[in-house]
Amino acid sequence: MADSRKLRIGIIGCGVGQLHLQGFAEIPRAEVVAIAGLDEERCHSLAKQFGVPRVYRDYQDLVADPDIEAVTVAVPNILHFPVALAALDAGKHIMVEKPLAPSSEEGEQIIAAARRAERVLGVVFNRRGRQDVQLVKHEVERGNLGAIYHARAFWMRRSGIPGLGTWFTSKRLAGGGPLIDLGIHVLDMALWVLGNPRALRVSAATYAELGPKGRGQWQGGRFKIAPGEPYEVEDFATAFIRFEGGLTLQLDASWAAYTGHGDDFGLSVLGDNGGAEIHARDYAQTETLRFFGEIDGVPTITQPRLLERHGHGEVFKQFVESVLDGTPMSPSGEEGLDRVRLIEAIYRSAELGREVEVDGVADERLSRDSIGART
Ligand SMILES: NC(=O)c1ccc[n+]([C@@H]2O[C@H](COP(=O)([O-])OP(=O)(O)OC[C@H]3O[C@@H](n4cnc5c(N)ncnc54)[C@H](O)[C@@H]3O)[C@@H](O)[C@H]2O)c1
Repeated sequence: MADSRKLRIGIIGCGVGQLHLQGFAEIPRAEVVAIAGLDEERCHSLAKQFGVPRVYRDYQDLVADPDIEAVTVAVPNILHFPVALAALDAGKHIMVEKPLAPSSEEGEQIIAAARRAERVLGVVFNRRGRQDVQLVKHEVERGNLGAIYHARAFWMRRSGIPGLGTWFTSKRLAGGGPLIDLGIHVLDMALWVLGNPRALRVSAATYAELGPKGRGQWQGGRFKIAPGEPYEVEDFATAFIRFEGGLTLQLDASWAAYTGHGDDFGLSVLGDNGGAEIHARDYAQTETLRFFGEIDGVPTITQPRLLERHGHGEVFKQFVESVLDGTPMSPSGEEGLDRVRLIEAIYRSAELGREVEVDGVADERLSRDSIGART
């Protein structure tokens, strides 16, 4: 029977943590009871705005709060591992921001800890909450586009480095640049839509052409230039991935590049009976999707009328249901690990300058339905 009480949640991190607050505000069976962050002013102001009763500074204090049953982890990438482990150790269910962790080794340990503790583990792939992504998945699953043989996923920013000199530009603190920051979102979109096909090999290249010259800072966002970290990550990554069954995916991600894009992401899939193309300019949620087909040999274009949704709210609904009702969590920790393994293979290929094998996820819990892929 469905549990009618409210899940008591703590949010760790007050940057994108703001979207976590907005997301949970949409869910009647969720109540955010605490928030934590080192930037106390920002955290107190968010707590006031959203009516959150308790504010902590360090994450350790929040996870020690016995009233909290579930925690979201919205801290710099390097902290995902210790914060996730501390929360699981304290018996909390957790929802970790992407990437699950900067390395697959840490990701594996988080998954093992969640299994030991018998807690729900989810990863915040909030783009899955978009209606355009869900409609493409629906059409692929139904077979309406035929067998899918190629996909292209991209997230290209013209000038969108999230803070030159912040943790984002440090290899040690972030694990990578736009590939692990933005590319992972559209990689997940593609793989989720395509039924989690198994990646076999990848050929990739990364570049750092603008960032090290101090160019490409995000204009007008919440991120500021900081005098701290050196620029150690890529500012553009491109990869070609081969999957079991012959399916291929082209993935491009940039924080800064001289293109006509502003802050655009998208996904296109080619099937032998139809195609689909999502192109979201500057986070647009409507008029972003087109399906391509034919009627009696005449090419057709169909443009669904879409609704706006709060992406974080959509994935948090799954999380709350998973904790309270015992439904399977999606996006799962295993899917989060699968994406991190692919990102690692992309960096390895770029470093070696040649195609590399992708270490498979030897995990029965990742449902690989290979929808639409040729077998
Ligand atoms: N899903 C999305 O759309 C999305 C968007 C932005 C960021 N993110 C992810 O969210 C995470 C955070 O990114 P951000 O942009 O919010 O970064 P940020 O630098 O703006 O915020 C990080 C927050 O973590 C807090 N923090 C750091 N150390 C802490 C500690 N010891 N205890 C408690 N709090 C601590 C900071 O005080 C700050 O509030 C990253 O993993 C990033 O990849 C996801």
